[in-house]
Amino acid sequence: MDKIREQLHRLHEGKSLDAEEYLELILGRDAVRVEAAALACEVRDRIYGRRVFIRGLIEFTNYCRNNCYYCGIRAGNVNADRYRLSLQEILTCTDAGYELGFRTFVLQGGEDPYYTDEMMTELVRGIRERHPDCAITLSVGERSRETYRLWKEAGADRYLLRHETINPEHYASLHPEGMSHENRLRCLRDLKELGFQVGAGFMVGSPGQTEEDLAAELCFLREFRPHMVGIGPYVPHQDTPFAKEPAGTAELTTFLLSLIRLTLPEVLLPATTALGTVDALGREKGIRAGANVVMPNLSPVDVREKYLLYDHKICTGEEAAQCIACLKERIRTTGCEIVVDRGDHKDKERQ
Ligand code: 5AD
Ligand code: FES
Repeated sequence: MDKIREQLHRLHEGKSLDAEEYLELILGRDAVRVEAAALACEVRDRIYGRRVFIRGLIEFTNYCRNNCYYCGIRAGNVNADRYRLSLQEILTCTDAGYELGFRTFVLQGGEDPYYTDEMMTELVRGIRERHPDCAITLSVGERSRETYRLWKEAGADRYLLRHETINPEHYASLHPEGMSHENRLRCLRDLKELGFQVGAGFMVGSPGQTEEDLAAELCFLREFRPHMVGIGPYVPHQDTPFAKEPAGTAELTTFLLSLIRLTLPEVLLPATTALGTVDALGREKGIRAGANVVMPNLSPVDVREKYLLYDHKICTGEEAAQCIACLKERIRTTGCEIVVDRGDHKDKERQ
């Protein structure tokens, strides 16, 4: 107990832990979770204050060419009701979002070749022109360095691409042959070199994940230093090969949020929708553990039900305005406050 508390405090002082030490913290988490959360919030408050940034998530296509075993919009799911938003529909979402106080838009979709490089460029330019004071985040999977460069030049600021797991064998057990762990990491490195603020991340409790894997994740994050880290519990989807696999827990997710905050003090850290799905107060618990971002949905209500990566996803029936009102109140209960701000990384110029 004393040993792991001491490790926690070393982390808090900015010292780095090795995989073994992270593992001990993870295994002994019940004894230190309260303290870890308090230290993580202190670090967050020192850097960002008690301000929580919002990102308007626009899920613009649920077509996907990939077949990840865990994901509800995998190409092989014939039950998925597929949709695509037009560029005009997407722009309309950003206009509505702007009025609601959003200053970051996240364009997320499956890997859908229908949206060519040129269409995405046009879209980014369109948003840039209409909302010059907003940040544009893309989250559309693996592409060439050249494509990423085009999009950066068009005005995209950030890119979210979870690496899913740092362990190559684990990666191979979550994805069909043909998907490459190496290429995913190549994408993350390219994005960073091109000057994007980059978000990496993984699911907590994904099938086959061990506590050693989680310790390795923390070491990877410490080295790679992404600007953002998206983590949420794995949640099963009924039409996937992993339908019967158990969900990850809110308690392990929130503990990892605290460790990530302590490892990367300036990181932008969302309390994710998946966390709010496994626990009705999950997002609030995430904020109390050191997170400082929430990502409500701006997609039109008639397509919400269709972007289901996992079962029982929350907020699929609510209008964006309802969600933002609901979230404002929820965040207020944590002693934090949602702000109208781009919410850039403290040191966004660094790579
Ligand atoms: N449960 C939780 N998260 C999931 N994702 C995909 N499928 C699931 C699931 N069943 C996550 C992946 C992906 C991100 C967009 O959503 O980590 O990168
Ligand atoms: Fe969507 Fe509460 S945040 S209904």
